[in-house]
Amino acid sequence: MGKTLKLFCMILISAFVLVAVSDNAEARKKKIPKKPKYVGAAKCNGSCHDPYYQAWVKSPHGKTFNILKPGERADAKKKDKLDPEKDYTTDPQCLRCHTTGYRQRGGFKPAGSKSKKSGKDTSTKIDPEEPSKEQVGCEMCHSVAGGNQFRVVMKNTKGDFKKEETEKYGQRWDYENTCNRCHNHPKSPHGDGKLDYAKAKDTVHPFSKYITEDNADQNIVKDGKVKDRAKTKAKSEEKDLRIEDWEIKKGKLKFSKGTKPYSSKKKKFYYKK
Ligand code: HEC
Ligand code: HEC
Ligand code: HEC
Repeated sequence: MGKTLKLFCMILISAFVLVAVSDNAEARKKKIPKKPKYVGAAKCNGSCHDPYYQAWVKSPHGKTFNILKPGERADAKKKDKLDPEKDYTTDPQCLRCHTTGYRQRGGFKPAGSKSKKSGKDTSTKIDPEEPSKEQVGCEMCHSVAGGNQFRVVMKNTKGDFKKEETEKYGQRWDYENTCNRCHNHPKSPHGDGKLDYAKAKDTVHPFSKYITEDNADQNIVKDGKVKDRAKTKAKSEEKDLRIEDWEIKKGKLKFSKGTKPYSSKKKKFYYKK
């Protein structure tokens, strides 16, 4: 073989190898699901946000379902004219603020929920060892319609994403506003309890206490990712997203028109006027 031919073959082979490798890298990146849906806090745990999850489990929001059970917080219930002996764990009056994504795609479904078509049980499985959709999870503060889509963006970029890249898929950054989805909401049976956001935000997930040898690689504060993102502003930080309101009609929770912050049909966000 002539020298030039040999060289030509080498170049051709390397080109093939390069294409194959980069194809594989693309294939490893997961596709973003078409529609948003709630996945539950347990899905944010594990290899990504273990310290946040551990901190959340111990926080008030990691136990919001449990207090709907009979006998729990009897005095507080009496004070709010609720029946301390009643089981509220399937009551639509309570589930929107005490669970994750109730009456939205993928959201919590109480015991006794059935598929209209097949009659099959569709209620959310609860694992007492691993709190998830049945409590007020990550997605109630961090998303408009569930985290399945931006979770893939986070994974594909190994956590190195810009705010607008996940906001496009429903991650919200209007933290102080998002508390109003429940606290001090007009439909609350608890009267008004104004939240001091500046004080309250540090109790939401004091994750640094839960950093161990095993999850030290997930310390996104230490590795600078949080700081880098904090330098930029998302749309939902400039203008607060809408807060859902609802009515209970014939025992079912229906969102009031014009109060949802996102339409998955139109792929459109709605902000406060
Ligand atoms: C609009 C949202 C909302 C609805 C609806 C709602 N809650 Fe709550 N609930 C909250 C928030 C926020 C807190 C924590 C702050 C507070 O106590 O005001 C809370 C706290 C509680 C507590 C603990 C209070 C304490 O002082 O220890 C109990 C018990 C409770 N809720 C039961 C219920 C029951 C039962 C229902 C349904 C009949 C219900 N909640 C409906 C938002 C809501
Ligand atoms: C009750 C609301 C609430 C819940 C529930 C919640 N978070 Fe947060 N999260 C916040 C707030 C508020 C901040 C911003 C805190 C600050 O500015 O100091 C935040 C910040 C974060 C950040 C830093 C984001 C960045 O890049 O700046 C991560 C990561 C995070 N939360 C993960 C989680 C995970 C994982 C869960 C569930 C296990 C969760 N959060 C549950 C309210 C919540
Ligand atoms: C989906 C509903 C929901 C959202 C959104 C929500 N909370 Fe809560 N929060 C609750 C419920 C329910 C409780 C009651 C837990 C308990 O008493 O054990 C609670 C309890 C608390 C408590 C302890 C009780 C109190 O009133 O002092 C703090 C602090 C708190 N939330 C802060 C926040 C902050 C900060 C945000 C926004 C970043 C937020 N919450 C968003 C539902 C919510």
